[in-house]
Amino acid sequence: MADAPHPNPSPEGEGLYLRNLAAALASAAKSAKAAPGPRWSFWGSVQQDSIMANVTVIGSQWGDEGKGKIVDWLASRADAVVRFQGGHNAGHTLVVGEQVYKLSLLPSGIVTGTLSIIGNGVVLDPWALRDEITKLRGQGVAINPENFAIADNCALILPFHRDLDALRETAAGAGKIGTTGRGIGPAYEDKVGRRAIRVCDLAHLDKLEPQLDRLTAHHDALRAGFGEPPIDRERLIADLTEIADYVLEYAQPVWKRLKKVRKAGARILFEGAQGVLLDVDHGTYPFVTSSNTVSGTAAAGSGLGPSAVGFVLGIAKAYTTRVGSGPFPTELEDEIGQRLGERGHEFGTVTGRKRRCGWFDAVLVRQSCAVSGVTGIALTKLDVLDGFDTIRICTGYRLRGKILDYFPAHSADQAEVEPIYEEMDGWQETTAGARSYADLPAQAIKYIQRVQELIETPIALVSTSPEREDTILIRDPFSD
Ligand code: GDP
Ligand code: IMO
Ligand code: MG
Repeated sequence: MADAPHPNPSPEGEGLYLRNLAAALASAAKSAKAAPGPRWSFWGSVQQDSIMANVTVIGSQWGDEGKGKIVDWLASRADAVVRFQGGHNAGHTLVVGEQVYKLSLLPSGIVTGTLSIIGNGVVLDPWALRDEITKLRGQGVAINPENFAIADNCALILPFHRDLDALRETAAGAGKIGTTGRGIGPAYEDKVGRRAIRVCDLAHLDKLEPQLDRLTAHHDALRAGFGEPPIDRERLIADLTEIADYVLEYAQPVWKRLKKVRKAGARILFEGAQGVLLDVDHGTYPFVTSSNTVSGTAAAGSGLGPSAVGFVLGIAKAYTTRVGSGPFPTELEDEIGQRLGERGHEFGTVTGRKRRCGWFDAVLVRQSCAVSGVTGIALTKLDVLDGFDTIRICTGYRLRGKILDYFPAHSADQAEVEPIYEEMDGWQETTAGARSYADLPAQAIKYIQRVQELIETPIALVSTSPEREDTILIRDPFSD
């Protein structure tokens, strides 16, 4: 169709406007006649998805940025919270008054009683699920089929996935990935290898034989290489039979439920796990997790289209941490790194491992924002930087005499890049617990503004403590 004529012509241009309009309509009618498939006049006759603002929360570093806290803070205004990738390798900490909730598999919305959904992109360990539900119920959280659902096409993590994860890591010695040991990698391998057992299979355990043949043929060969006995099929079936009803109580085609939620004009909050630098494509490969952690996965991992993703809220710590092996250009193995770790309580939620700490790396976060289409950033743990005389930000890298403004793909280059720093004065006042921009010291505001400039992405929220309400809102991600 020709360009639409201007809808508000000046009186003297009215004749031309009408002639243009007639020409445009004639040309539209002609192309509609020629076009195959549904006629353009049918457009709009089927009710489209309402366009409520949804929010997708993702980590923009190496995980543990404070996604859980931010999702919990946003959850009371969402109608559904959806996990779409990863598994119980995630560890999301929520602090609400005296209560601390540690979630690995359940969406953080469960704590506020918001409908919580595990999407098809997640790999689900049924026994870990049962343990986590039991633990949370013990903390007074209600979990029932009304407020919790699991995609029936989720791939399962089985006991031999965990074994294989551990066997490989042990065999790799110093070259290990430093996984969480939850069987995530082997479970995703089986999913893309088309031999996974899925949630829906739990309702048809009598029909499992052909899948078990494929699965055991693959795993028994691997296990033999490690000197392990073949999979005990009877034991596996007995274990699955014992847990099946527990999982099936929540299983359903969640894409259908989400479609209904979306049609009703409700808001969906997607909760990412890990972070962009652990993404299997965009991260520090091979020192990554086995799923795509970028925002686009929210669509594929839940059964909604890409338009559902909405405002992409990247979570970034005001400094950098990493658990496990792999390159980390701004890592500080000195007393400053030690101080960041102590002030930030940087110990893994899942494994208790000490997290490696370093200065904020603007190159990495800028790259994460680009590859994940981040709309706005939530900058967390600003309070951890209180009291430093000077603060550094990495603004570029030096690699064999060349200056780089991005993180190269090859792991040898990633390990070799030297950070180029910019130094700023710190602040001696406390930001801990600040709930408004006006409460922040001038130097802290300067730091936030410099970070924003360097990552070329606006900062929408600032978090100043683990507590839910200690959050400064700059731009509401849910605003339509
Ligand atoms: P996630 O995996 O991204 O959800 O992050 P984790 O929960 O693994 O790690 C973040 C840690 O920092 C948790 O212990 C949070 O309670 C805590 N936290 C979150 N935001 C803040 C903040 O603004 N300041 C401080 N001091 N701690 C925070
Ligand atoms: P949340 O959601 C930090 C890291 C592991 C390891 C690599 C691969 O809490 O931010 P895997 O077990 O996934 O095969 O391990 O990924 N890792 C995380 N690091 N936060 C996480 O989740 C992580 N999940 C996995 O330490 O380096
Ligand atoms: Mg975590």
